[in-house]
Amino acid sequence: MSAQRAGTELNRFTRSLFHALPPRYDTLAYLLSFGQDRRWRAAVVRRVAEGAPKRVLDVACGPGGVTLALADATAADIVGVDLTEEMLRLGLANVEQSKHSGRIRLSIARAEQLPFADATFDAISFSYLMRYVDDPAATIKELARCLRPGGVIASLEFGVPAWTPAHAVWFAYTRVGLPLFGFLLGGPAWYRVGRFLGPSITNHYARHPIAAHVAAWRAAGLQSVTVRPMSFGGGLVLSATKSKPT
Ligand SMILES: C[S@@+](CC[C@H](N)C(=O)[O-])C[C@H]1O[C@@H](n2cnc3c(N)ncnc32)[C@H](O)[C@@H]1O
Repeated sequence: MSAQRAGTELNRFTRSLFHALPPRYDTLAYLLSFGQDRRWRAAVVRRVAEGAPKRVLDVACGPGGVTLALADATAADIVGVDLTEEMLRLGLANVEQSKHSGRIRLSIARAEQLPFADATFDAISFSYLMRYVDDPAATIKELARCLRPGGVIASLEFGVPAWTPAHAVWFAYTRVGLPLFGFLLGGPAWYRVGRFLGPSITNHYARHPIAAHVAAWRAAGLQSVTVRPMSFGGGLVLSATKSKPT
């Protein structure tokens, strides 16, 4: 594997976290989020589809849940990229079984260094990515580089509910419920990810508060940045358009 493909220490950790998850990924993502994940994804897809894009990039596509929903909602040619080979393999199988296989292409790539020319895409989506990169500001800049001026970018990430009662429930669930239900429904690999997730979300926003993300998006040439908390803030959808040269 080349140094560029191997990536950073964090990329290697991420692959080790995700490589055993694919067999039941979509079902468990749905169950462990009490179905909220689908609502959040749908909000991202709607935002991307608004501009009737012809070429869409879905970064950190995993097994292709968002990628396929984008194909349902648009007539675009779609490229999905992800770091983890096993996630992409399941993605390929899912795409092949769908009616959209002719216009979806999946390949391995790191969000930090995308193998696309400037302004290649009319729209870009990414979900659950920024907790797995060392430098979210540099990564959003790299994504924005691949977006054409006027194009839409939309993202999904877990959030931390601010309202005290919702925060208490969220905290108990992410620290106790997720590892426990993860183990019961998915075995040791899901226990590991269940234990990892809550602290990962908390630490991410301690290091990169939402205001810092918004500032990074703006610095990357993205304008009209909107932040949409969903499910009491447990899900967070950000979107923006790329500024046109004046
Ligand atoms: C929680 S999964 C989400 C998958 C998919 N977006 C979804 O919503 O079902 C996170 C994905 O991000 C991928 N990922 C993490 N870091 C990445 C990076 N630096 N570049 C590309 N993909 C990355 C992982 O391999 C994993 O498939």
